[in-house]
Amino acid sequence: MKCDAQTREEWSSLESLFSFARMDARNLITCFHEEMKRGLAGESSSLKMLPCFVNRPTGLEEGSFLALDLGGTNLRVLAVELDSRGGANISAVDRFIIPASVMHGRGEELFDFLADGVFLFLEKHGYNLHQHHDLAFTFSFPVEQSALNSGILLNWTKGFTASGVEGKDVVTLLAEALIRKNIKNVSVTALANDTIGTLMTKSYTDASCDMSVILGTGTNACYSENTRRIAKYTGSGDDREMIVNLEWGNFDRIEMNSYDRALDHATRNIGRQRLEKMVSGMYLGELARLIILDMIDRGCLLKKKDRQIFDRGYAITTEHLSRAAGGEDIFAQFGLENVTDYDREAAVRISHIVSKRAARIAGTAIASVITWMDAGLERHHTVAVDGSLFEKYPGFSTNMLNILQELFGDSAGKIALSTAADGSGIGAAIIAAVASGRRRQ
Ligand code: GLC
Repeated sequence: MKCDAQTREEWSSLESLFSFARMDARNLITCFHEEMKRGLAGESSSLKMLPCFVNRPTGLEEGSFLALDLGGTNLRVLAVELDSRGGANISAVDRFIIPASVMHGRGEELFDFLADGVFLFLEKHGYNLHQHHDLAFTFSFPVEQSALNSGILLNWTKGFTASGVEGKDVVTLLAEALIRKNIKNVSVTALANDTIGTLMTKSYTDASCDMSVILGTGTNACYSENTRRIAKYTGSGDDREMIVNLEWGNFDRIEMNSYDRALDHATRNIGRQRLEKMVSGMYLGELARLIILDMIDRGCLLKKKDRQIFDRGYAITTEHLSRAAGGEDIFAQFGLENVTDYDREAAVRISHIVSKRAARIAGTAIASVITWMDAGLERHHTVAVDGSLFEKYPGFSTNMLNILQELFGDSAGKIALSTAADGSGIGAAIIAAVASGRRRQ
């Protein structure tokens, strides 16, 4: 073991590698605004700024809708009832785990898997196969929409690689798969990103909600924009609002450290989704693993023979890390015995270092979007947030609030971060309702 001074130096150099100070936050906001502007103008930008062809709901929407939710390793099929008074109830839900072979196989197999999910759901819950049903498709990947019910996948994120889907209309692919399964009574009436669903869910009951954020496996946000400011929007340029999906996970004007670069280098989408790789649940555990390996190699943590336990990429998940941040012994979770107190404390410290930067970047990205909408922070903004990092990771939401406070002082009180559970299910139904025009008169 090294002497105390050396150890202190190791930690302070790690902390400075992962620091994200107020000055960094201010720079990020400036760059974010530049990228947003370019993205809205259709110029080359790491923020795609995708118009979503839907407005916020009025709260009067009603009816029963089916939703299909694909966003990570789970597929969900849901039935949602809206009561036109802000009430939304999930009356049935089925979950299917997407096998790795399907995530990385042919696109047709992936869409057949989705159609099978719909078929099993209809059968299990006794749906009449001759009665017509509207289905909203929550597809949480970057999609360029040309209407509410069509959109082209620009590129896969979050580790998906199914072939033959990028560049294709995913609603058409789903409709074709439903036909292959002989499901003729279901029409895909709306396509939406999970951020849009989350915004819809919160704004169904809270009119001041104009932004939503996902902090889960991936990270992203959407907000309500005026069509006049969407320079690339070719529809009628009147003064309307339209939700824009930022795809902020791909923001790339942010400095990466050596661990970020090593992580990026081993991914299937090198150079892409840089912000996501620093912030989201898919990657925080991996960053911690790279730090732990490095510390073992340099003799500052555990024993050399323990290295092999952490050798496999993504062996440490963000859930492990979150439990460590909450005080659980991360090494015991891997069956390591005789770990010193120092090792255990080091693991907690690493989990704080990695998650603190993530939360401060996420908070700053929120600050960027809010000040784009309202430069002087004159109005109150509710930001709907969904995802396990925000809800469950100890200290994450506090770190987000801290950076807002550092940036805006007392005016930070104008920004309320509010959990919106299950936006990708309920929100999809609200979008389908908006699309169908079914609402209380
Ligand atoms: C990824 C996707 C994005 C999605 C986010 C959260 O960043 O590209 O569309 O909203 O994950 O699920």
